[in-house]
Amino acid sequence: MTMIPNPVVEDVTEAMKSHPEYSDHTKVFQVTDEDSGLEARIFIHSLVEGRALGGCRRWEYTDDAAWAADGLRLSRGMTRKSAVAGLPLGGAKAAIKHGNPTMGMMRAFGKAIDMIEKQYGMTYITAEDVGISEELLVEAKTQTANVRGITPEETGVWLAGGDPGPFTAYGVFAGMKVAAKHKLGTESLEGVSVAVQGLGDVGYYLCEFLHKEGAKLFVADLDQGRIDRVVTEFGATVVAPHEIVGMDVDIFAPCAMGGVLDSSIKAKIVAGSTNNQQKDEINNTESKMLHEKGVLYAPDYVINSGGLISVFYEGEPADKIMAMIYDQVFGVLDRIFGMSMDTNMDCATIADDLSRKMLSEKQYAPMAQRQAA
Ligand SMILES: NC(=O)c1ccc[n+]([C@@H]2O[C@H](COP(=O)([O-])OP(=O)(O)OC[C@H]3O[C@@H](n4cnc5c(N)ncnc54)[C@H](O)[C@@H]3O)[C@@H](O)[C@H]2O)c1
Repeated sequence: MTMIPNPVVEDVTEAMKSHPEYSDHTKVFQVTDEDSGLEARIFIHSLVEGRALGGCRRWEYTDDAAWAADGLRLSRGMTRKSAVAGLPLGGAKAAIKHGNPTMGMMRAFGKAIDMIEKQYGMTYITAEDVGISEELLVEAKTQTANVRGITPEETGVWLAGGDPGPFTAYGVFAGMKVAAKHKLGTESLEGVSVAVQGLGDVGYYLCEFLHKEGAKLFVADLDQGRIDRVVTEFGATVVAPHEIVGMDVDIFAPCAMGGVLDSSIKAKIVAGSTNNQQKDEINNTESKMLHEKGVLYAPDYVINSGGLISVFYEGEPADKIMAMIYDQVFGVLDRIFGMSMDTNMDCATIADDLSRKMLSEKQYAPMAQRQAA
């Protein structure tokens, strides 16, 4: 018989305030469950209409400060991403301190989300992140409705939700078109050379959209099977992994690992899905370097927000959500690129300011306050 989970949820916000990454979080909760051995933290950076969404990751953090730093930084990033995605959501993240969470831990985690909603009037919506499978999420969903990222049942119509890769890729494609408008003087990507680094869940679909548009594809991956697939299906030209970043092409599309932006970039545009493309996001050092070189950089959390939009609209017809993603990413980047041109400021700094502005235009009210009103 499955036991009803009984985790302890503590508000540890005060204790987090001295952490260098704290940056005005709304709440941080510590979750412990003796029966399953769960140790987790739920970081809520901001709430919009009482809600915040952000994935749950698992990691064997070796020390407390690293655990806090990861969660605080990621949940702050989710605030910016939700804002530029135009979603009525604040930013949050959860981090389970364990290399291999069990089903029991996930049930306790789901129960904690439910308790936070009932006791604090804050809706934290969880989803997949590093190391958390759909199977684990299904277990959390036995205790709370606030779980996204579970593949909708087959209805014969393609629905948003489940795999976010095609949705993220379509947003990147929209971002490339608006970047091309500003930098190359045309929205068409026909004949435009694109170097795609990483041919996984996003990179593959991006190549498909680009191939249909008639772009010239150069690709690199560490996995031969993934390379073969895009060569066969889209006629891409293969490049060595160490050469792809510095290729002299129109667009460089990073779709692999973070910290990729460096002075070797020769492309006219950088537009890809990779998270945390800059090594120094606090000072936007790499974005400034690219701006000085005349490279148009599409800030990562703006151009890769399509996946988040699809997760939020889980269960809606995919065609409708694809169109929404195209308009949102195109529109926000159009503003950012235009402002960069007008002010001679780098695109990441402008995106950070714009995300704060977009967030402040939304209303924040914890659910308990709204219900009492
Ligand atoms: N999946 C999404 O919807 C989504 C949403 C937002 C952001 N992102 C970000 O986009 C990036 C790609 O995501 P994904 O889901 O496609 O990941 P993935 O793991 O499916 O694919 C990544 C690919 O990059 C390859 N790779 C790794 N290092 C490489 C290197 N040095 N050179 C060339 N190829 C390399 C891997 O072999 C793999 O095929 C990640 O940074 C991810 O955080 C993804």
